[in-house]
Amino acid sequence: MRIGIATDHGGFGLKEELVAQLRTAGHEVVDFGANSLSPDDDYPDFVTPLGRAVVAGQVERGVAICGSGVGASVCANKIPGVRAALIHDHFSARQGVEDDHMNIICMGGRTVGPAVAWDLVQTFLAAEYSQVERHLRRLGKVASLEAARGGRI
Ligand code: RB5
Repeated sequence: MRIGIATDHGGFGLKEELVAQLRTAGHEVVDFGANSLSPDDDYPDFVTPLGRAVVAGQVERGVAICGSGVGASVCANKIPGVRAALIHDHFSARQGVEDDHMNIICMGGRTVGPAVAWDLVQTFLAAEYSQVERHLRRLGKVASLEAARGGRI
């Protein structure tokens, strides 16, 4: 799968580990930065291009990291077409994709260790979007909120 990944300084080390693991697992990784550890950088500068790439189909799914994962998820969800969530547990990493069509997983570089993060990412990537009517109905209602805004960022 072609995967996009982005982080600020709060998840820089975790991103480096995940990029290596994803490539070893055979995925193509597009790294949206940060490209070096800079304590003054800002997560929107990396998460925004990642989100736009997911919506444009340039990458199939995204991984967004910051210190807590909160800023990354708030930022990503401002982009119409992104369905991002801050994930800490295995169940949500799977069900968030299946039921809610999560296309960006957000994690905190300061809140999850590398082994848990790798399990969450693998689970997120292995899960598939449900086509069950009730799930699509709910997603349609979510999409209508974006449409009401005119799809503007
Ligand atoms: C940066 O120090 C930190 O605020 C950021 O990485 C993130 O945790 C925000 O939600």
